[in-house]
Amino acid sequence: MAEFDYQWKYTLEKDNLENEEDMYECNEKRIKEFLEQFKNKNWFFKKPSFKGKVCLDAGCGPGRWTCALQKLNASKVDSFDMSHEAITRCKKINPNAYVFDIMELKENHVYDFVLSWGVIHHTNNPRKAFSKLVSQLKKGGMLHIMVYDKRNDWFYEGYRGEPTQKRKEWNSLTMEKKLELCKEFAEKKGGNVHGWFDALNPEFNWSYTKEEIKEWFGEEGFSNIKLGDMGFNINMNGILE
Ligand SMILES: C[S@@+](CC[C@H](N)C(=O)[O-])C[C@H]1O[C@@H](n2cnc3c(N)ncnc32)[C@H](O)[C@@H]1O
Repeated sequence: MAEFDYQWKYTLEKDNLENEEDMYECNEKRIKEFLEQFKNKNWFFKKPSFKGKVCLDAGCGPGRWTCALQKLNASKVDSFDMSHEAITRCKKINPNAYVFDIMELKENHVYDFVLSWGVIHHTNNPRKAFSKLVSQLKKGGMLHIMVYDKRNDWFYEGYRGEPTQKRKEWNSLTMEKKLELCKEFAEKKGGNVHGWFDALNPEFNWSYTKEEIKEWFGEEGFSNIKLGDMGFNINMNGILE
């Protein structure tokens, strides 16, 4: 089982799966949230926004942003994820969804828009993963990433960021205990079991400052680098020169 298979198979709440829109979390609220990230831009976001754009959703999960891009009239969305479970779900909304590891990407500058939301901080080398994403983008195209913000590591009470003692404890727990702990966190701090499991279970959970991420964009030759509006995580995008 790939690392994220368990959560995509078991921890999504039953209530969330009762209709297709919710299953992919592809509803008006999500689309609005998605577009909020770009509201300062003047490239994609003059109407008709994503219409006609060739897009890549790298680390798509079950496909909530794939679905948003489709609803925003992208001409094509390719979606990949290393989790088979995620792709089994995503394939239901996108035939161009496949199992793949970001680290295996080869240079292929074909996309107008590359999105990688909440993914590269789970790889063993996020900076390298970032370059892999850039290697898929056309000149003049946009890359958008979401990564964890170092400033909010405290919220996870030692299970994320340094020191790592709590991480060791987490790794020693049975699945049942892990889910119990997620339930406790959800009751205490809000959110749901799936969200907490998603935050705590991955082997790698790197977090960054916005200055660090801005530097990556700069090093790779992006201009127009902008921070999105979701305060808790870092959402950043730029245009490849
Ligand atoms: C937190 S989920 C985010 C999913 C989706 N982007 C979203 O916002 O709903 C992280 C996803 O990244 C995928 N992932 C992690 N490392 C990956 C890699 N090296 N290559 C491809 N996918 C990866 C996981 O399988 C998981 O589905």
